[in-house]
Formats: sequence, C-alpha cells, structure tokens
Amino acid sequence: MPSGRRRSFNSHDRVGAGSVDLRFDKGRSSVLLRINLILLIAFALGMAAISLVVTSTLQENATREVLAQAGLMLDSAAAIRSYTDTEIGPLLDDKMVSAFRPQSVPFYAATQNFLTLHKEHPDYSYKEATLNPTNPRDRAADWEADIVQRFRNDSTTTQVSGTRDTPMGKTLYLARPIRVDSGCLGCHSLPSTAPATMLARYGSDNGFGWQPNEIVGAQIVSVPFASAESNAGRVRRDVLTTIAAVFVGILLVANVSLYMLVIRPVRRIVRIADQVSLGDTAAEEFPSGGGSEVAALSAAFNRMRKSLDKALRMLGG
Ligand code: HEC
Repeated sequence: MPSGRRRSFNSHDRVGAGSVDLRFDKGRSSVLLRINLILLIAFALGMAAISLVVTSTLQENATREVLAQAGLMLDSAAAIRSYTDTEIGPLLDDKMVSAFRPQSVPFYAATQNFLTLHKEHPDYSYKEATLNPTNPRDRAADWEADIVQRFRNDSTTTQVSGTRDTPMGKTLYLARPIRVDSGCLGCHSLPSTAPATMLARYGSDNGFGWQPNEIVGAQIVSVPFASAESNAGRVRRDVLTTIAAVFVGILLVANVSLYMLVIRPVRRIVRIADQVSLGDTAAEEFPSGGGSEVAALSAAFNRMRKSLDKALRMLGG
C-alpha cells in the first residue's frame, strides 16, 4: 500500500511540524457524539412508539370505564322500572280511580329518579327519548331521534354508544331501545282505550298510536368523559416522563462509561503515541486502563515502542 505509507509520512510530518490538533480529524465527529446521536434517535423512536401504545391503551380504558358507568345507570333505570311496576303500581291502583298518578308509571319513575341525580351531578343525564312521547319533556332531540331511528331500522341492534361535545364538555352516551309490548297498549295505543284520568292529565294528542313490538324511543344516558380523559392524560404524562427520565439516565451512564472505558484511555494513548512519534523517549508507558480492547491496544503499542527503541538502538550502533 504505497499510498497509505505516503499518507502516514505526511501526517507524521505535520505532527512533527507542531500542529498537534491534527491528531483528530476535524471533519469527523467524535465517537461520543455519534453514539449520542444514535441513542437519541433510538430513544425518540422508542418514545414515539411507547406514546402511541400508551395513548391508545389509556383511551380504550377510559372509554371502557365510562361505558361501564353508563351501563350501570341503564341497568339501575331498568331496576327502578321493575320496582315501580311490581311494588309501587299495585299500591296506587285505588288512587288511580280518582286521579292519574304518574308515580305508578315505570318510565316516569326512572326519569324522575335520574332528574334528582342530574341536580347533584349536572354532567350525568338520563332520558327516555321518545319520538311521540306522552310527556313533551321526553321528546327526542335531533341527535337522539337519529339513535332511535337506528334502532327502528335494525331491530337486532341492542345498544349504541358514542361521544358528543356538549356545553358540559365531552360526554359519552349509551342507548338501548324502548320496545312496546302488549302491556303498554292500554295507555299508549288509542286514546279511547286509555284511562280517562290519564287523558285528563296528558290530553289525547301525544303518546298514542304505538304499535305492538314497535321501537318508540331509546333510553339514553350521558356520562362525562372529561374526568376519565384527564385521568388518562395524567397517567400518560407520568408514564412518558418516567420513561424519558430513564432514557436520560441511560444516556448519562452510557456517556460516563464510554468516557471512562474508551475515550479517556484512547486520548492518553494518542497523546503518548504523539510524543513517541516526535522521538520523546521519556514519554510515559501506554496506560493499561480502559476496556480489554483498549488495554490490548496499549499493550501492542508498548511492544511496538520497545521494538522501535531496539531497532533505533541497533541502527545507532
Ligand atoms: C297506566 C298507563 C301506562 C302504561 C300501562 C304504560 N305507560 Fe308509558 N307512560 C304513561 C304515562 C302517563 C307516561 C308519561 C309519564 C310522565 O309524565 O313522564 C308514560 C311515559 C312513557 C315513556 C316516556 C316517554 C313519554 O311518552 O313521555 C315511555 C318510553 C313509556 N311510557 C313506555 C311505555 C312502555 C314501553 C310501556 C309498556 C311496557 C308503557 N309505557 C306502559 C302511561 C303508561
């Protein structure tokens, strides 16, 4: 390799001319910088992947948690209905003769119960959204009517859920269909078959004409999503901060070890090799510290130096 040899002479000449800085090629970045860059890129990619996984998992968990709350509310509405039907209704039968008592109506009981809950927890709501309701309060709003329509179009759908932005913040809704059975027809089919006391209270315009097995509305609960989401956000922040801290720790440890095991001993070797190349016979021994590879390099340099000394002595006679 003649060109290689020539280059080594050149560099020796330059070092010999006293430009010690040329020991390190300024055009190249240091090992430490390169390794740090590689680690940073790996960490950035890792953080991005972890962030994606953590975010979607937490989002899923928050949705599942809020949906479970909503499901519980719908189940408790069903429990209230059945309690009213079996225990309250019969008690009010006598009184119904003189005046209609809505307290005996199962759907009324459930709505009233959740209206009380709504006062204490304004961000929770329950509605028996109905297309043609007896009580106008229960009339389905546009978005609720869309849900009812979905149930009417596909009778196999038993539950629908989704999220909505409301003035109270983001909420999750869960809806189940309300289906008419033969027991309902006495009050919801024709005004002529409905109790006169009921007509006296509600009139005969609304809440009639329901058909057997028809889906007339949907029970819809809305549960706030904001707190579950902010909890998820907090957990995400904590997890990512901890992982970032671990990454920074790893980076520090990697830098310190690299410096102690490689950079520092290599710099000493370069310094001593430099002195030796300038003919400084008093230069210290190549160091034996650092990792095994660096120690092997040092040992090789020491041997080379001894051979060089011997050769020079022989030449010098
Ligand atoms: C004794 C008469 C009676 C019977 C039987 C009855 N309802 Fe009603 N229902 C009413 C009255 C009265 C209201 C309005 C109560 C109120 O003021 O909120 C009502 C309200 C409702 C509502 C809320 C929406 C609206 O119309 O205001 C739904 C839904 C409902 N009933 C469904 C049913 C179903 C389904 C059945 C059968 C399983 C049934 N009802 C049986 C009298 C009855």
